[in-house]
Amino acid sequence: AGPCDIYSSGGTPCVAAHSTTRALFSAYTGPLYQVKRGSDGATTTISPLSSGVANAAAQDAFCAGTTCLITIIYDQSGRGNHLTQAPPGGFNGPDSNGYDNLASAIGAPVTLNGQKAYGVFVSPGTGYRNNAASGTARGDAAEGMYAVLDGTHYNGACCFDYGNAETNSRDTGNGHMEAIYFGDSTVWGTGSGKGPWIMADLENGLFSGSSAGNNAGDPSIAYRFITAAIKGEPNQWAIRGGNAASGSLSTFYSGARPQVSGYNPMSKEGAIILGIGGDNSNGAQGTFYEGVMTSGYPSDATENSVQANIVAAKYAVAPLTSGPALTVGSSISLRATTACCTTRYIAHSGSTVNTQVVSSSSATALKQQASWTVRAGLANNACFSFESRDTPGSFIRHSNFGLVLNANDGSKLFAEDATFCTQAGINGQGSSIRSWSYPTRYFRHYNNTLYIASNGGVHTFDATAAFNDDVSFVASAGFA
Ligand code: AHR
Ligand code: AHR
Repeated sequence: AGPCDIYSSGGTPCVAAHSTTRALFSAYTGPLYQVKRGSDGATTTISPLSSGVANAAAQDAFCAGTTCLITIIYDQSGRGNHLTQAPPGGFNGPDSNGYDNLASAIGAPVTLNGQKAYGVFVSPGTGYRNNAASGTARGDAAEGMYAVLDGTHYNGACCFDYGNAETNSRDTGNGHMEAIYFGDSTVWGTGSGKGPWIMADLENGLFSGSSAGNNAGDPSIAYRFITAAIKGEPNQWAIRGGNAASGSLSTFYSGARPQVSGYNPMSKEGAIILGIGGDNSNGAQGTFYEGVMTSGYPSDATENSVQANIVAAKYAVAPLTSGPALTVGSSISLRATTACCTTRYIAHSGSTVNTQVVSSSSATALKQQASWTVRAGLANNACFSFESRDTPGSFIRHSNFGLVLNANDGSKLFAEDATFCTQAGINGQGSSIRSWSYPTRYFRHYNNTLYIASNGGVHTFDATAAFNDDVSFVASAGFA
């Protein structure tokens, strides 16, 4: 059985079921998601294998030698409640016409029972939505929902959500949403410790318990894979959660609606959001693997069976890097492969990261500027950070999508901005160096300056012309 078979048996059927990793009904054989590749704009759908796990190899073959974005996350419930690129609302997204960005197809690799699959890695600015969903709860009607998320990928911005929201992408008032939130925002509610927390986004408030503000019963979460569940019915709602890779769910809150005007009764509108707030607030980050929404208030027993099913799916981490290996602690230099520039290496002039012509006869200072010590990724040790040879303690990081050399300030944002995952060079040479936190974006030289660029994004440095060559670099032993 899949999670939705279990919800059906419990009398609270799925009305939306989304996953890029597996079928959520045992009988589901339709498409899980659609990807679009950068080379020619072609799309394909990825379906489950006979095991129920997504056919990641089909994606890898389709996306070979180019980039891919997740364009559609299909609804497996049969209601057509698919998630697509979120439109502008109270806030504009960063993509064309105010839409949010789409997620990279390779930002969140995992295995399920040993089989490779990909989750949805939501960077700030990324969001999916369906403003015309059918069968989802309206008004004060009862519903439940769960999601499997990466418990180590979050931030404090509004709002990494999955669930029920406004149909016009705007803040239409208290009680117009009921969605899972995950992150360490302290603007509205908080739980115990420093976060991140599972909270309910009920509009104009993230709630961790009966009252607005702090509720000590909602714990900080520290699992790599988490199950987060929210459910609501008249005069009653609950937060539950646990480790998606083992054990059971705990109830962090169950009881009355918040005693703040507008939340009892609720005014749910029934749209579905992923990665954003109700009003298209899009500063948050997180990773989504699977989730559903139900009709009716699921029993704890039903949710406990769903948790057992998730644990049995055996989510585990998969490598974030591929292609030529880098050795932590070694010094490397990185040569451009675009025909214009094959004598140029990634270097720095002060805080500017650029390419410069370097050779074995260059001055020592220039050789040092073009040499980088490979470090374990500051935010994720499955990837890398690049420390300056001549300015120890300073690392290549992105800021406003430019690459700069800055001293490590010890912050979580710095660590994330300075973490990069290598993969086989997209043009077939060397390596391409992907931002961990924005995996649609790669080290790119553009007019001899370094950026993190996406293939065909809104910036001039995202231009598709020469993209594959500009993002492919050959690593060698460092000049210094
Ligand atoms: O409730 C928190 C957020 O407040 C909602 O997601 C958003 O619509 C509003 O800005
Ligand atoms: O480079 C994109 C973002 O810009 C970085 O994450 C942040 O440091 C800056 O605001």
